[in-house]
Amino acid sequence: MFSMVKSAGIFGINSYMIEIEADVSGGLPSFDVVGLPDTAVKESRDRVRAAIKNCGYKFPTGRITVNLAPADKKKEGAVYDLPILISILIASKQLDCNTCDCAFLGEVSLDGQVRSINGIIAMVIAAKQNGIKNIFIPFDNAREGAAVEGINVYGIKNIKELIDHLTVFTTLSPATPIQSDESALNAMLDFSEVKGQILAKKALEIAAAGGHNLLMIGPPGSGKSMLAKRLPTILPSMTFEESIETTKIHSVAGILDKNHPLVTTRPFRSPHHTVSSVGLSGGGTVPKPGEISMAHNGVLFLDELPEFKRDAMEALRQPLEDGTVTVTRASGSVTYPSNIILIAAMNPCPCGFYGHPTKPCTCSQNAVHKYLNKISGPLLDRLDLHIEVPPVDYKALSDKAPGETSAQIRERVNHARALQVERYRGTGITCNAQLTPSLLRKHCVMTEEASAYLSRSFDAMGLSARAYDRILKVARTIADLKGNGEIQKDDIGTALRFRSLDRKYWE
Ligand SMILES: Nc1ncnc2c1ncn2[C@@H]1O[C@H](COP(=O)(O)OP(=O)(O)OP(=O)(O)O)[C@@H](O)[C@H]1O
Ligand SMILES: [Mg+2]
Repeated sequence: MFSMVKSAGIFGINSYMIEIEADVSGGLPSFDVVGLPDTAVKESRDRVRAAIKNCGYKFPTGRITVNLAPADKKKEGAVYDLPILISILIASKQLDCNTCDCAFLGEVSLDGQVRSINGIIAMVIAAKQNGIKNIFIPFDNAREGAAVEGINVYGIKNIKELIDHLTVFTTLSPATPIQSDESALNAMLDFSEVKGQILAKKALEIAAAGGHNLLMIGPPGSGKSMLAKRLPTILPSMTFEESIETTKIHSVAGILDKNHPLVTTRPFRSPHHTVSSVGLSGGGTVPKPGEISMAHNGVLFLDELPEFKRDAMEALRQPLEDGTVTVTRASGSVTYPSNIILIAAMNPCPCGFYGHPTKPCTCSQNAVHKYLNKISGPLLDRLDLHIEVPPVDYKALSDKAPGETSAQIRERVNHARALQVERYRGTGITCNAQLTPSLLRKHCVMTEEASAYLSRSFDAMGLSARAYDRILKVARTIADLKGNGEIQKDDIGTALRFRSLDRKYWE
């Protein structure tokens, strides 16, 4: 007899529906899985066979063929154990139920327990879009799947529970979405702990408000890492769409936190400098998102930037410009989103004290030059804000007066972001850093005084065309933080000041 049940597969971070057909007929005993399965899917045969027996059912004798359709897409992983098992039980007449508006996902253990899998949220979304009313997924993934509205998501612990539900009585109730709290995660860190560094804090506020990339240079122990780690505490809250997008990526990458199955705080990724270019931008034989995509809608922090491999740094250039990264493999090309704020930190030289007000630098001019030149011009050009983080003096460090808290700064950031969201409604962008050249001309209107000032500085400083655009974008954010409509001369002045370090160190 023949049966068909529905399931879903992952391609990139998106999902498509799969139909699992099983045919049980007479003849010599055999069990084949066809339809471009990978080795993990083939191993499914052994797990399903054992699970069927150990749950008290009979593994059919005779010829069993399981087809995963569409056959032109490669199926990966152990996701299909559960639907294969159900389709065999139906085809061998051991299970009688209507599964036409149902879908099944999950790995099965030899004793019939259902194990969690990656990529659930994308698959539940696809199932809902394809008219599925009830989806049965591993219990450990249920809270993640429940974030999708308009579909009944059932968390399954074992095969017996599922079959009882499908046949005798509807015993299970759909999982309910969790109320997420974003307060707990960031409660540990606050900007008020950072003493001094007024300019650096201002720059981080601008970066958060407009989504700009930022580079910090300074001697060891001046607080660069400390500042960067506090950036998430002042970032604007995530919209629901952003939450879902980021959750999809984290789910496919298998890094979703079980206790927070819906990502509601902007991610902060800080890969070690030994990371490969594939680790950063994504790829592998079975393509997986890289760090730049895991940081989507949040922050990618590269600490000790010159220590990163050259090819890893260069791999960032295209995704930084486009907001997406495309990985091409034999199985097809996959595009992952990568809208991030890049924060990079570095010492100015190998010993760390080049340009230090009191400590002498022990590096040769050549060594300093070589160290700085590990950062390529094009990458430097993509960093909108460059700031120096000087050593803090004793007076500032011992200052007992409480500094501004993250909550206070965040209020200004949220306000500036709201202006941008309103202004760019319908254009496909959400913040100043994403402005395209045509939108830039339209929305970055300067006063006459500001325009004259920028034109004088442009020639005097020998700026590149890209630098010009980036200065305008940063000035737009500075004006938004103040609530100004037109960009004033002061805003241009501040933007230029945050763009002058490349000349100090790199020329
Ligand atoms: N501005 C500051 N206010 C308060 N504490 C600070 C400040 N700067 C540094 N510290 C203290 O010094 C420690 C080291 O700072 P941090 O790791 O941020 O330095 P860094 O600039 O990243 O140095 P490196 O270049 O060596 O990586 C912090 O954990 C903090 O305790
Ligand atoms: Mg550091």
